[in-house]
Amino acid sequence: MNFANIILEELEPGIFLLTINRPEVYNALNQATVADIKNARDQVEKNPDARVLLVTGAGSKAFVAGADIKEMHNMSGIQGRDFSLEGLRVFRSLETLPIPVIAVVNGYCLGGGCELAMSCDWIIASENAYFGQPEVNLGITPGFGGTQRLPRLIGRGRTMELTMTGRQISAEEAKEWGLVNHVYAQGELMQKALETARNIVKKGPVALELTKDTILRGQDMDLDNACALESKAFGLSFSTDDQKEGMAAFLEKRAAVFHGK
Ligand code: HXC
Repeated sequence: MNFANIILEELEPGIFLLTINRPEVYNALNQATVADIKNARDQVEKNPDARVLLVTGAGSKAFVAGADIKEMHNMSGIQGRDFSLEGLRVFRSLETLPIPVIAVVNGYCLGGGCELAMSCDWIIASENAYFGQPEVNLGITPGFGGTQRLPRLIGRGRTMELTMTGRQISAEEAKEWGLVNHVYAQGELMQKALETARNIVKKGPVALELTKDTILRGQDMDLDNACALESKAFGLSFSTDDQKEGMAAFLEKRAAVFHGK
C-alpha cells in the first residue's frame, strides 16, 4: 500500500520503520496523516513476520511538531472533537499493536507529536530533541491523550507544569523525568534503534506479546487483579513451543531459536 504522508518500510527481516513524512511542516499531523498511521499500523499487524515497529519523523528537525495548526485553524467544536477522537483511537490502536513499538524521536516532539511518542512502548531520542505540550499557547487543550498518558509517565506535577506553561524540555530533561529511556547523538540514533530492534527480534514473539499486553492492561487495574492477570499470562507462556525451546537452550548452553508458537 502506498501512503501520501508516511513511509512504511521493512528495514531488515521483521523490523519495520514508519516515518511521518511531511518534513516541510515539521511532520505536523493532519487528518490524512493520522489515517495513514492507522492503515500502516494495520498493515504491520496483518504481517505475521513483523516483530518490531520503529516510529520516526522525516528530516533532521522534527519527530512531529504537533497536529497541523493550519488544518485545525477553522475547525468547529464538533470537528475538533472528532479529530481528537480519531487520533485517540488511532494512537490507542498503535499502543496495543501486539509487537514492541519504539518511538525514535529525532527533533521537535510537541503536542500531538509527544502524544504519538507516548503511545509507543518507549521513547529514545537524539540530543537535539525537544518535548512539550504547547497547546495552551494556541488556546486549546491537548487532544491526543496528553492529559492522560503524560501523568502516567512523569507524574501529575510535571504534567501540570508542561501543559500549563507550554515549556519545551530537552531530551536530557525528558530522560531525567522518565519520559525518554535513552538519549543519543543525532547521527547515532537510528543505528541505536536498529541495535535494540535486532535484539528484540531474537526473543520469543508470544512472550513479548503477552508481556506487553499484561503491562498495558495491568497498569490501570488494582494490584490483585493485575497480578492475577500476570499469572495467567505466565501460565499461557508455558503452553508454547517457545518456552520449551527457551529453557532447553539455556540448559544446553546454546542460543534459543524461537518460532512464535
Ligand atoms: C502546522 C507547522 C507546525 C504545526 C511547524 N509547522 N509546526 N505547521 N502545524 N504543528 C511549520 C511552520 O509553519 C513552518 O512552515 C515550518 O513548519 C517550520 O516551522 P518554523 O516555525 O518556521 O520553525 P522553527 O522556527 O524552527 O520552530 C519550530 C517549532 C515551531 C518550535 C516546532 O514550528 C512551533 O512552535 N510549532 C508549533 C508547535 C505546536 O504548537 N504544536 C502543538 C500543536 S496542537 P512555513 O510554511 O512557515 O515554512 C496539537 C494538538 C494535538 O498538537 C491534538 C489534536 C486533537
